[in-house]
Amino acid sequence: SDKKYDPYRPTSFDQITRDAKDFCQELMPKPEEETRKLALLQKLSDIAVEVFGEAEVLPFGSSGNGLALANADMDVCVFLNPKEGSEEVSPVEFVERIGDRLEKDSDFENILQLKRARVPIVKLNHVNGIACDIGYQNDLAIWNTRLLRAYCRIDGRVRDIVVIIKIWAKRRKINNPYTGSLSSYAYVLLVIHVLQRQGVLPNLQMIVAGNGKVPFWDCQGFNRYFFEDIPNLSHYWQPTPESQRQSIGELLYEFFRYYASEFRYANHVVSIRSGGLLTKESKEWTKDHTQPPPQQQQQQPLAPLSEAPAEDTEQAQSAPAADSKPVVKNRYLFCIEDPFELNHNVGRPVDRYSLFTIRGEFMRAAKILSRKGDGVINRLCVERE
Ligand code: CTP
Ligand code: MG
Repeated sequence: SDKKYDPYRPTSFDQITRDAKDFCQELMPKPEEETRKLALLQKLSDIAVEVFGEAEVLPFGSSGNGLALANADMDVCVFLNPKEGSEEVSPVEFVERIGDRLEKDSDFENILQLKRARVPIVKLNHVNGIACDIGYQNDLAIWNTRLLRAYCRIDGRVRDIVVIIKIWAKRRKINNPYTGSLSSYAYVLLVIHVLQRQGVLPNLQMIVAGNGKVPFWDCQGFNRYFFEDIPNLSHYWQPTPESQRQSIGELLYEFFRYYASEFRYANHVVSIRSGGLLTKESKEWTKDHTQPPPQQQQQQPLAPLSEAPAEDTEQAQSAPAADSKPVVKNRYLFCIEDPFELNHNVGRPVDRYSLFTIRGEFMRAAKILSRKGDGVINRLCVERE
């Protein structure tokens, strides 16, 4: 890799690595939590079958990709198999029917039906302590979960680094797409990008068994192909010897250093499916797209405010504002290409103000890691405010 002169680079990463490993150990979900999640999954599955007949409930996000922290929310997705000739259930109808059924069950609390969100979902808390989002027929989410899981299985360092980045982002309050910062999913993509650059991870979407042409496996119009046979990956790709020597501490430092001072926010797009960087021009991600609210939606009565958090840019952006000003649909300040949905900028909730905050946090983190002393990871992850 290109070793540029870096006056802040620590001379040893041993302390950071030891700290990081201890830290990760504590944040692992306990087996008992897994048991509660499985029980909830089974219960939701029974309810979906009761309401819709044939139904399958699959976990995705951190409950499906091996990147969960202790006390993480559970994301699940319901898939229906409507009988020949029967009406398809629309996302809004799905949310209404399963939401109403869940209301009748005293095991569930704080049930919220987000019908007008970009991706309609039901949010709830189970009495056993688990918070859960229930989505509908979101195949791409299942596939990107599997892609992330595959990357985790390649190298044990991936999980440790992701866990620390997630905790850091949560404690520093830059892990909320509804208020202009990034989702955990976005941070995982940022980590994979850096690890690809370091030679720790390959680009699974370009590797083909037998070295043939990359096939097109259609999923909602996008190519969901990736090399998933991780036990046989070594026939097609090897990590560089240098990358194998890099400790978790060094890779963590590299992550923060890269986004603090090397990545060019004004021009670049993080793209794990191309194994590197793209330019905003090449994707035509240069101008924010503002769109007037759709005509037919303006006629609909506005749902109660409680349905959508006020700043819910990620999920409620299809909802027209009460005064019908044009809604900003996509921002391209921090560009992170979704690995499958190539026209989706996962960094789109980021505005000028939150970009300033996030970049400031990258710089703060790089600086902290470059200082000596005990408890670096604790200092890194100090709660903001
Ligand atoms: N997702 C997506 N597009 C986004 C955000 C999320 O497709 N812009 C999907 C992905 O499948 C992702 C899942 O939603 O894996 C959950 O996202 P998120 O909650 O951000 O990630 P988690 O790994 O579940 O993190 P956390 O533990 O913080 O909930
Ligand atoms: Mg989640």
